[in-house]
Formats: sequence, structure tokens, C-alpha cells
Amino acid sequence: MTDELDALKSRTAAALAEAADLRALDGVRVSVLGKTGSLTGLLKELGRAAPEQRRERGAALNRLKDELSGTIEARRIELEGMAIRARLAREKIDVTLPPRPPATGLIHPISRTIEEMAAIFGAMGFSVGEGLDIETDWFNFSALNIPAHHPARADHDTFYLPGTRQDRPLLLRTQTSDVQIISMLEQEPPIRVIAPGRTYRADHDATHSPMFHQCEGIVIDRDITLGHLKGCLIDFLRSFFGISNLPVRFRSSYFPFTEPSMEVDIGWNRRTGDLGGGGDWLEILGSGMVHPRVLANCGLDPREWQGFAFGMGVERVTMLKYGISDLRPFFESDLRWLRHYGFSPLAPTMLHERA
Ligand code: DAH
Repeated sequence: MTDELDALKSRTAAALAEAADLRALDGVRVSVLGKTGSLTGLLKELGRAAPEQRRERGAALNRLKDELSGTIEARRIELEGMAIRARLAREKIDVTLPPRPPATGLIHPISRTIEEMAAIFGAMGFSVGEGLDIETDWFNFSALNIPAHHPARADHDTFYLPGTRQDRPLLLRTQTSDVQIISMLEQEPPIRVIAPGRTYRADHDATHSPMFHQCEGIVIDRDITLGHLKGCLIDFLRSFFGISNLPVRFRSSYFPFTEPSMEVDIGWNRRTGDLGGGGDWLEILGSGMVHPRVLANCGLDPREWQGFAFGMGVERVTMLKYGISDLRPFFESDLRWLRHYGFSPLAPTMLHERA
């Protein structure tokens, strides 16, 4: 008899060891202790045993029942623990892992300068406009009061292209000033636009590249004066170079499309190259009040509308700001140069610093 109970006990133990999950465990429990389970069956048979055997056998069966209930319960706890550990392992997130591989690409100094210009002028209410690299001589010259045979055309070492557009000769634009014309033709005043972009001149040495960048600016409104021009450019230059008391000088000059025209100088120290109050002056941009003839070329009545315009070399201001002495590496894609002078894409821009 006890052999039979021992056999049931070891069968149950083997089945429990084999039960790999809670469902299998429940199957074992039902097969032993359920309504039609093997131990339940033995307990039911007890009634048929002789009275003198009944007590002893009953006690043995009940002990076994307690024992098996205990081992089933122990296995349940074990399996539940295993299930939780498996789920934790499955759903684990390593919060120390970087969200993405560290960025290796860097922002080119030219792009960085253009972003900063857009941020500073953007805060003053300018939007960013665009021109075309391939332009007609009308947008690049004639509409800007530089007619054919005007000596200023000869200064620009222009790349002319075969073909025409609207019967006008095609060229690679020599200046971003074409965007003055585009803005006035496309928009109703008041206009506040800056236009960074590529420009081209047939010139190549340490300080000239056949392709380079300029940034143009134009403001058209009623009652615009030279005071607005000066305030806008002084604010921009001090903000861009990060020198709040940067000396700025306006020197009368000549451009065909502005009258009066001024070149703008900033203070620096010629000996050390430091920007600021070093006693020397460095020319940094061209500017002036938009010429009445240019307004009229764009269909605006000069008695009603005035404005100012300015233009600067993007490479030039970048070289001055970051102490870069040679123009050529800007366009050579040398990784060592880019790693040295490039900017992290996540580095804060001027606007963040100013906020
Ligand atoms: N376009 C001129 C250049 O390439 C720069 C310039 C001067 C732009 C005066 C202007 C301006 O808008 O008013 O040298």
C-alpha cells in the first residue's frame, strides 16, 4: 500500500519537475488533487476499506495530500518567479545606452554663419529670401542701375553663359543684390528680407574663390532713413561678433544701386588681429539707401517708398570671427580642417545664447 503512495508521490514529483509553466503545473495539480485526480480517487475509495484499516490509511492519504499540496505550491512559487524574471529580461531597457550613435558630422562654418545671420536678422523681423545662381544680366546688373557698358560691370569678372532667358543674356550671378530686385517685384512693401547665397566671379587666389557666398539685405517701407540703416547694421555686427561695444564706422562710398552709399568698417587691431577697439579699421560690408531708379525699375514710386540695402561676404565675416586666415580650405572638403573648424549640430546657436 505505501509503495503505491510512494509511487504516486514520485510520479507527481517528476511531473512537477517537468512542468515548465503555470499551465502545466495546474494540469499536474488537477491530475492529482482535482475532482477526478488520482489522490482524490484514493480518498474516495477509503469508504470501501475495512474499518480497522480506514484510520491508518486515511491518515497516510491526508499526509500525502498535505505534502503534495505543499510541493505543488512550492513549484508554483518557483515558476511564478521564473516567469517574472523572464518578463523582466524581455522588457528590460538599458537607460544608459546612448539614444543614437554619437554624431560625427559637423556643420560647415559657412552654414553656421548663415544660420547665425538668419537668427539675428530673423529676431529683427527679416525673412530669408532666395535668388537663382543662374540669372539674367537684367536682375544682376541692369535693374540695379548698372546698364550695359557701365564700368561697374567690368569690375565683376562675370561668367557669362550661353543662351538667354526672356531675351536677356544668362550669367552666374556676381552678387546677391539680384534678390533686392526679386523681393521688390514679388512682394508688396513693407519688405524685410535677407538673402544668403552663392555668387560667382572669375577670380582665384588665396583671398578669392570663383564661387563664394554673400548675404544681402533689403528693407523697404515708408519713411525709412539712414538712421534705420545704421541702427540695424550696428546691432547686427555687435551681435554677430559678440562684442557689445564693437566700434562701427560708416564711410561714404559708391555703389550704382544705392544713393548715398556707405562702406561699413569695424574696429580691430591690425597687429594682433583682435576685433574691437584696437584703433584700426576693417571694411566689412557695403550698404546704402536704395537708389530711386532701382525702386522705379521695380515699379515702386520713390516718393512713397524708401529703403536701405546692404551686402557682405559670408566667408570674410566667418574668417574674421573664427580667425581663419586662408579662404581656399573652405571649399576643399579636407576632413582635418572640417573637424577643426566645424560645429556640432547640437551646439546652441547665437539665438539660444542670447535668449
Ligand atoms: N553687391 C555689392 C558687392 O558685391 C555689395 C553691396 C553693396 C550690396 C551695397 C548692397 C549695397 O546691397 O547696398 O560688392
